[in-house]
Amino acid sequence: MSNQQVRLKERPIGMTSASTWDITTDDIPEPGPGEFLCKIEYISLDPAMRGWINDVRSYIPPVGLGEVMRAGTCGTVIKSNHPDYKEGDFVVGSLGVQQYAVSDGKFCYKSDTFGLPKEKFLGVLGMPGFTAYFGLLDITNPQEGETLVVSGAAGAVGSVVGQIGKIKGCKVIGIAGGPEKCATVVNDYGFDACIDYKNEDVQQKLKEHCPKGIDIYFDNVGGEILDYCLARIRFKGRISLCGAISQYNSETGPVGPKNYLSLLVNSAKLEGFIVMNYQDRYMEAAKQLGEWMMSGQLKSKETVIEGVDTFPDTFNRLFSGDKLGKLVLKP
Ligand SMILES: NC(=O)c1ccc[n+]([C@@H]2O[C@H](COP(=O)([O-])OP(=O)(O)OC[C@H]3O[C@@H](n4cnc5c(N)ncnc54)[C@H](OP(=O)(O)O)[C@@H]3O)[C@@H](O)[C@H]2O)c1
Repeated sequence: MSNQQVRLKERPIGMTSASTWDITTDDIPEPGPGEFLCKIEYISLDPAMRGWINDVRSYIPPVGLGEVMRAGTCGTVIKSNHPDYKEGDFVVGSLGVQQYAVSDGKFCYKSDTFGLPKEKFLGVLGMPGFTAYFGLLDITNPQEGETLVVSGAAGAVGSVVGQIGKIKGCKVIGIAGGPEKCATVVNDYGFDACIDYKNEDVQQKLKEHCPKGIDIYFDNVGGEILDYCLARIRFKGRISLCGAISQYNSETGPVGPKNYLSLLVNSAKLEGFIVMNYQDRYMEAAKQLGEWMMSGQLKSKETVIEGVDTFPDTFNRLFSGDKLGKLVLKP
């Protein structure tokens, strides 16, 4: 038995391609003292991974050339010399794009699966769900009757943000790419409306759906959609700066918002956050998200693609939008 892995071969300019990665095969590692061996069952594909391969200062060091690509994972412990992990434990953690990994438990936690599909622990019940929870509730403090606009609305984070917004009594307008995704956002996730930014006039549709303006904008995409939302932000409005996927593959660097003075004239705020800074509260989010799932108030979808060797193409689906909900790889 061997361990297939994806390693960073070269730093890309713009979109990644097959030449960005090396697909290698190694022996399955043996756990040393205080370590366990995990059979990875699902690998999380996240837009942030594009940032991790740029050689720049960020909230986390860049992945080095030749290293196994960093990724969130979940799987089962199959051998253990670690006092806190035993064979059969289900583990969620950052173990990389590979089939097996040895860990000392750093950046990992054990979880019960509660009989749920394991891939949900990389989506709604994992990092993206926690991002939605803290990025909406902590950063914007949504109130009943407020208008919340969410971009990336059919995605892993955005779909959860909008559903939490509905639970909190907001009017929720999504923005997503294509009629099929917009229909899912409204019919399955219960948003009040969804704007198809690929086929509709976003500015015009925001006027129609948010006649009094926007109280909260949850930004997953940046670019001109951020500008359109800034232009309609209300007095004391809040913008949660979660991500800017439209800018991640730019060859000339990200473009900032033109309409930022709207923050000044509306006494509004735009605040960024990194979910990792909420690590000590992850269990609070997991418990609440789990309860909402069990009560049927929170739904999720996952797109599962098989094979470590499909990683180079599968990763780019995050940027083409060719997937629904949380994108995961089954190695
Ligand atoms: N701050 C944090 O700690 C944190 C943590 C996790 C994620 N994030 C950020 O949250 C955002 C969403 O992440 P996710 O995991 O939920 O990904 P996702 O939404 O599941 O997948 C990415 C989606 O982005 C959309 N997209 C791609 N290119 C776009 C463009 N040029 N303009 C508009 N939309 C585009 C596509 O949907 P369409 O088909 O609808 O275009 C695609 O499906 C990302 O920006 C990510 O970096 C931040």
